[in-house]
Amino acid sequence: MDQTAKLIVDGKTYELPLLVGSEGEKAIDITALRRMTGLITYDPGYANTGSCKSRITFMDGERGILRYRGYPVEELAEHSTFVETAYLLINGELPTRKELTRFSVMLNDHSLVHEDMREFFESFPRRAHPMGILSSMVNALRTFYPELPEESGEDGTNVMFTRLLSKVRTMAAMSHKISRGHKVVYPRPDLLYAANFLNMLFDSPVRPYEIDPDLVEALNVFWILHADHEQNSSTAAVRLVGSSRVNLFAAISAGICALWGPLHGGANQAVIEMLTDIQKSGGNPGPFVARAKNKEDSFRLMGFGHRVYKTYDPRARIIKRICDKVLAKLKLEDPLLDIAMKLEEIALKDSYFIDHHLYPNVDFYSGIVLRAMGIPLDMFTVMFAIGRLPGWISQWKESISDPEGKLHRPRQVYMGEHERHYVPLEERR
Ligand code: ACO
Repeated sequence: MDQTAKLIVDGKTYELPLLVGSEGEKAIDITALRRMTGLITYDPGYANTGSCKSRITFMDGERGILRYRGYPVEELAEHSTFVETAYLLINGELPTRKELTRFSVMLNDHSLVHEDMREFFESFPRRAHPMGILSSMVNALRTFYPELPEESGEDGTNVMFTRLLSKVRTMAAMSHKISRGHKVVYPRPDLLYAANFLNMLFDSPVRPYEIDPDLVEALNVFWILHADHEQNSSTAAVRLVGSSRVNLFAAISAGICALWGPLHGGANQAVIEMLTDIQKSGGNPGPFVARAKNKEDSFRLMGFGHRVYKTYDPRARIIKRICDKVLAKLKLEDPLLDIAMKLEEIALKDSYFIDHHLYPNVDFYSGIVLRAMGIPLDMFTVMFAIGRLPGWISQWKESISDPEGKLHRPRQVYMGEHERHYVPLEERR
């Protein structure tokens, strides 16, 4: 097979090498394009741009495949825990029992947040969005550990990664408690990662929290499904900011900001808001589907569509199963679930959605699971951020050690004014 692509410009032919990925995906390597031809490529939103080589996550948007380090996400959701999956993403292999124990012990050892940081939390306005708080606090965290080495120890453990993974969870729970004016609950050494989080979020001096293993399992699955998704917007932000060689905390803080937007991680909150609007308007999703199809209207069906998936998001299938299980376990009936299912049914039969390949994404049902667990709406995207953290860390780690890695600095096609000369203020009309 020919391993080059030919490009003809002004009658001159240029040969560009083809790069073939381990799953047979092909890319035209345009590294030398500008040097050879004087041309750049135009690709708004980078929809056709491979910005790096990566060994972490494989996804096939046409076939609905998602694998972390080669393992199908369905298998990890069924058999693994979030902590084990985090280890896999960051280190490339599933841990041995000894490695997993060591990792868990480190997560426990680093779970406390510097007491001085509490003053920062207390200073945010009560109504501050927890994503704004989390991104600021993660950035601030580095100032408490300026000497922390970024590289891993000889045994493969990395104190900085572990600190971040553990403290982000603590800080997320703290921001919730403080925003409600409640007493902060400290992490407990006898609890594992997900159970510890639920306890920090919900335990109270007047009503001790009872840990439900089914909810712990659901949370593990939720976080596993969110753990990485190759070069999505927030991960691309982490890589881009990290490419300037700023510290990991600043790069992750940028990722949290990117995730906050409703077109990305903020969609899980936006879905519930949309379903609530449908409920308030009488429960018929029809008019909302019509609005989403109307090009004069900027409204979109939240939780539908994906840049890469042109079929059902494999994570959405799993989260729907978890959703049914959690509601059954808690003996809850959520009217928003009925509306969501009705909406899905209408959209999946509608030619607009079929023609545009718009299917439910992971955010469509995840909000209903989080609601059932008692997670407040403004914490939904924070839940996503905790889950995506291992992905951001592993992608950052890979990018800074990539021998071909460079400062990310795209070009542009300038469409503005030609050169013109300064006009003094009194001569302007
Ligand atoms: N509702 C209605 N129409 C949609 C939707 C939607 N949810 N999503 C895409 N479209 C339409 C667009 O209007 C456009 O139509 P046109 O070609 O007729 O003009 C076409 O589909 C392509 O849309 P783009 O915005 O170009 O596709 P892109 O790949 O940039 O969008 C995105 C992906 C941002 C996720 C989009 O589908 C969307 O806005 N979805 C709703 C928000 C959402 O659920 N985000 C979560 C994504 S998953 C995640 O981040 C975890």
